[in-house]
Parts: sequence; structure tokens; C-alpha cells
Amino acid sequence: MEPYESEALAAVTTRPVHPYRTLTVERITPVLGAEVSGVDLSTEIPAAQLDEIRTAFRDHHVLVFRHQTITAEDHKRFAAAFGELRPVNPPPPKGDPYILEIRTASAAVDVDGNGWHADGTADAEPSLGSMLYITEVPEPGCGGDTMFANMHLAYEMLSPAMRSLLDPLTAVHDGAQAFEGSTPPADYVIPRTEHPIVARHPETDRKLLYVNKAYTSRIPQLSAPESRALLGMLFDTIAGRPILHCRVSWTPGTLVFWDNRCVQHHALYDYYPYTRYGQRVAINGGPVKG
Ligand code: SIN
Repeated sequence: MEPYESEALAAVTTRPVHPYRTLTVERITPVLGAEVSGVDLSTEIPAAQLDEIRTAFRDHHVLVFRHQTITAEDHKRFAAAFGELRPVNPPPPKGDPYILEIRTASAAVDVDGNGWHADGTADAEPSLGSMLYITEVPEPGCGGDTMFANMHLAYEMLSPAMRSLLDPLTAVHDGAQAFEGSTPPADYVIPRTEHPIVARHPETDRKLLYVNKAYTSRIPQLSAPESRALLGMLFDTIAGRPILHCRVSWTPGTLVFWDNRCVQHHALYDYYPYTRYGQRVAINGGPVKG
């Protein structure tokens, strides 16, 4: 490991751990994710506990709440505690406009989210975070996990020279890429937005790498081959460095809340021919801060 890589890791892994009064928070890896217990999401959560959940979210970016039995209203109430609810886009043909059904049919060819991405990054104001509540998992031991990657650390572990190159650049995020091989609904206005490649988290101001393979198409300041090569290297870094990752194995009744501003995720489709079902509620964010 290069000295700048171990320095970046040391800075993350030696951060002070917050004491919690109303929750138990157990890290999944030293750099990303935590299992949170002591919370009942089917009830109104007391303000003091919500504050502690916000602290844990800021520190760990991916929070896992197990053994929950919640309705769609409970799910939306919990999400609304963190910001304005984000309507599903394109809107679902029927049902609740804020609930995205994540459904894998038996022996599906592929599933949505089977690749590294953050939700909604082609929008001018991407999502703050998503809450996925899974109620049906593949047979035990048959996969269906979700991987997450820490984009702060992805940036911080790059060489100083690479960070300086990336700092002033922008990249185009193109919603059309998500429909490769399929056709978007006729009335869907495909979002396309240029964001800074190196963004800052709006709550902590900490820098992070803001490109993802699903949506990021081009670095406009570079030639097409340069842009392809640089984005390819960054996508390979995100996918290929387990030190950036954590992995969540779902059990029925698990809700995971992740920060789309500084985390990417990958829903692994390794459970053919089994089924999987859940519902996702997302929260609106603001413009990406450079
Ligand atoms: C998603 O991409 O939001 C879905 C994640 C999952 O199914 O685990």
C-alpha cells in the first residue's frame, strides 16, 4: 500500500467512536456501514433517538435496521424525518408515487441495480438517501446481498497527483445510460446533468468522488479517449477495491438506509432462479456541491 493510501485509511479508522444512549451501533467494516439496534421503526421515533440515528448516518453512511415489521406509512414517516420524500421517477403506473417496488421474478434475466451506482445522480438535485425495506429474500444461503462503497475513501486513497487532476473537473451524468437495452416510458424526460467530479458532503464538507458507472458518461474538459480512460480507471477503483466496501446480507424485515451523496451500491444478482422483494423510499437532496 502506498503511504498516502495508508494515511487515508488510518484517518478513517482512527476516528473517535460516538457514544450512543438510545441505540446500539455496531460497525460492519472499519470504514463503512453499521448495524443499528434498539429502534422500532413501526412507531414514532423520539427526537433524541432520531438525533442519534442522524449521528450514526453521518459517521457510517449505511445503516442496517433488522427485525422490523413496518407498513408503507411507517416507512415513509421514517424517511420523512430526514428530508422531503422523493417521488419515484418515472412514476409507477399504479400504487404509491413514493414507493419503488424492487421485485425480482423467478429466473429473471437481470435485476435493476445490478451494477455500481448511486440513485438519481443524473438529476440536477440527486437523492440524499434511500431506504430499502426487504421482506422476501432468496432461499437462505442463496445470495441477494447488496454491496456498498465509500466514496470519501475512494477519493482520499487516490494519489495526490490524481486528486489534483480531478479536483477542478466535472462529469456528465446521463439518465439514458440506465435504460441501455430497454426503452424509457414515452413521456419520461431523461435527466442529464453536469456535476463536479470531486464533490463535498453538504453536512460535513468532506470531499468525495462523484462518478458512477451507471450514469456518468463523459468528462467534458477531456478528449473522448482521455475521458473514457480516466472514468474507466475510476470505475475500476470503485468496483475493485474491497477496502472501500461493506456488504449487507438481507434477512426478511431488514431496512437499510444509505447516503446516496457519498456511497454507491450494487445489488448483486447471484440468486437465479430465486425471487426477492422489497420497497424503496427515497429522500430529496440538493444540488451537488463542488
Ligand atoms: C437499488 O439499486 O436501489 C436496489 C438495491 C437492492 O436491490 O439491493
